[in-house]
Formats: sequence, C-alpha cells, structure tokens
Amino acid sequence: MQTSAALQRIQPSATLAMTSRVFELKRAGVDVIGLGAGEPDFDTPDFVKEAAIQAIRDGKTKYTNVDGTPELKAAVIEKFKRDNGLDYTPAQVTINVGGKHTLFNAIVATVEAGDEVIIPAPYWVSYPDVVQFAGGTPVFIAAGADQAYKITPAQLEAAITPRTKWVILNSPSNPTGAAYSAAELKALGEVIERHPHVWVFADDMYEHILYDGFEFATIAQVCPSLYERTLTVNGCSKAYAMTGWRIGFAGGPAPLIKAIAKLQSQSTSNPCSIAQAAAVAALSGDQSFLKDRAAAFQTRRDLVVSMLNDIDGMTCPTPEGAFYVYPEFSALIGKTTPKGKVIATDEDMIGYFLDDARVAAVHGAAFGLSPAMRISYATSEALLREACTRIQTACADLR
Ligand SMILES: Cc1ncc(COP(=O)(O)O)c(C=O)c1O
Repeated sequence: MQTSAALQRIQPSATLAMTSRVFELKRAGVDVIGLGAGEPDFDTPDFVKEAAIQAIRDGKTKYTNVDGTPELKAAVIEKFKRDNGLDYTPAQVTINVGGKHTLFNAIVATVEAGDEVIIPAPYWVSYPDVVQFAGGTPVFIAAGADQAYKITPAQLEAAITPRTKWVILNSPSNPTGAAYSAAELKALGEVIERHPHVWVFADDMYEHILYDGFEFATIAQVCPSLYERTLTVNGCSKAYAMTGWRIGFAGGPAPLIKAIAKLQSQSTSNPCSIAQAAAVAALSGDQSFLKDRAAAFQTRRDLVVSMLNDIDGMTCPTPEGAFYVYPEFSALIGKTTPKGKVIATDEDMIGYFLDDARVAAVHGAAFGLSPAMRISYATSEALLREACTRIQTACADLR
C-alpha cells in the first residue's frame, strides 16, 4: 500500500515516540525516569470523574451535536467570559477531540498549497506537521533563550507575506514555558492589525499554569480589532489533568467555526459524550484547585531550573508558565561520553541521557531549536531531584 503524499509530508510525534520508548523500557524492568511526556502527573479531580459517572447513569451515551453539546458550549462561553473577558455565542464555539484536533480541524479546513503559516520556534511539535499535512508551508521565526523564547514585533513583521494565512501564538509555550505579557501581545497584535489577510491561532492550552503572579493574556482580548480573525483555543487536558478524556475547544468567527464543524462531521463526529459531560463539570465547578496545582508546579520548576543551571555548559532560563524547561547546551556539543561516543547533536545527548543516565527527555531539534532539550517537570519532586542528579553526573562525565 502506497501511503498518500499528505501522509508522507509528516513525521510521527517525537514526544509521543519518547513516551512509548519509556513505557517499553519500564515494562522491561529498566529504572528509567520519564521527563518526556507533556501531561500533568496529577489525577483528574474527583468531581469531574463523578460527573462522568453520572452522565453514564443518565444515559448520556449517544451521539451529540457534531461540534459539542449545548451544555458544554454554554460552559465554554462562560469560561471565555470569566477568564478572558471574551464574548462568544454558541455559533462561535467548537468542541473537538482535544486541542490537537482543534488545531488539525482549523488548519485542514483553511490551509492549502501555497499558504504560509507563521510558527515561532521552538514550537509545539504538531504545528508544522499539521500545516504540512494540509499542504501549507510553515514559516519559522527563531526565538532563542537570548530573547526569552519570544518573537519580537519586528521579526513578525518581516515574516508576514501576501501568502501568510495564520500566525500561531502559544503562550505559555510548549516547549519553553515562556509566556507573553498583555503588552507584548499588544505589540505583536499591532503588527497583525496592519495585515488584514492574516489570522491568529491563539493556543492558550497552558493558561492556568503560570508562576510568580504572571497575569495571563490572550490576543483577542488585548487587541479587540483582531477578534474577528482570531481563533482562541483552549482545552481541558492540561489545566484539569484530563489528557485522556480528549476535550479541546475554541472560540472564533462563526464561518470558521462552521467550517470546522463540517470537517468534524465527516471525520470524528462529536467528541465523546461522557467526556463532554465531564468537561462541563471541570469548567463550571470550583476552580480554586488550579492555583494550588500551579503552586506545586512552581516548586518543581524552581528545583529543576536551579539543578540544571548548576551544570557547566547548560543554560536553563526560568519559564513563566507551563510545566516545561528548555535548557540549551551548545557548550557540551563536541564532547565525548565515557563510552567514547561524540555528542554531535542534541539528539545524541538525549540518547546518552537515556542509555547511560536512564533519564528520558526530548531533543530540541524536534521543537525547531538546537542544541537544547525539553524537560517536562510534571512529576514528583523526589523523581525530579533524582533525574537532575543523574543528568548532572552524566554531564560531568563528558570529556
Ligand atoms: C501547546 C499545546 N497545544 C495544544 C495541545 C493539545 O492538547 P490535547 O490535544 O491533549 O488537548 C498541547 C498538548 O501537548 C500543547 O502542548
């Protein structure tokens, strides 16, 4: 069977590949610490689980409206109003099978050959592949540690062409944890305002995981003139520790929402009815636990940043949010491991950490900025301390 040209344009997700590798090693009894997966170690809150159980008992087990139940759309509308000051009607809201599905739907419904999509790098692994699957061209803007992993208005202006269809903004970011302030977003928005053909995909998936009192902002809120060409994307996976439930959602202009529903009607149909009922509870219930969880993540962030910065040759900026750090290590490239292997790339380094230190991270090349790695610190402090100690030892052993 010859696979399609569209399929041949994409690669399997590097982060999911590392997660499977860790599963296999653990099954084989290897003492490996997995810092590759992008999911909270916290459990889904009990009140959310109870809502799902109740939904099953109530017979909410049938097809729903293709792009979401009226109840979940109402909860999403209330969420956008409460958290972001954004007003949407049900016709401006879509519910999808995870935030990744929202991305897939929006891009596949709108992008075709010749269209460009601006993606700040380092980026979440799925952005370029989904754009390429649709036949579009990703246009990267490099934003390294020297600019706190954030693009500047001048860089954005230089990247926009008549073929630009979307700009993807992800704050706080996977993989760096960097977050844009309202003022920084406004400055980027002022550039986009000057180019009326450009739309914004605002990926706010990590909205509730922010540190040191950093105030969340999203572009449709700080630049009201962009409201008519912004898709504001969010979901339950990260904030509510519901990665397995698969609920993502977005608010945006009704014609785009309708286009997404059309594609969804011929692919997945509705997201799981029970997960939708659970998401209503998550979005409408007591939100106070979100702050407690963010505080727990902050303690872990501080531990990891400090231990990684203790390594000669590694620079680990302090992120404002999400649960990732993105240390760079150009000073370690070219060194040799105790087994005599030269570390030529960040992928070599990740291989060395996995084989010799039994720590799994994901290499920076997968996110478009090398030499670096992404570490997810969504695990216990004890494991993080052990993992960072192993990385410290492995780096000290390099010659
Ligand atoms: C930046 C970003 N956006 C969206 C998603 C999608 O999450 P999900 O499909 O689990 O809802 C992820 C998950 O890793 C992410 O990191």
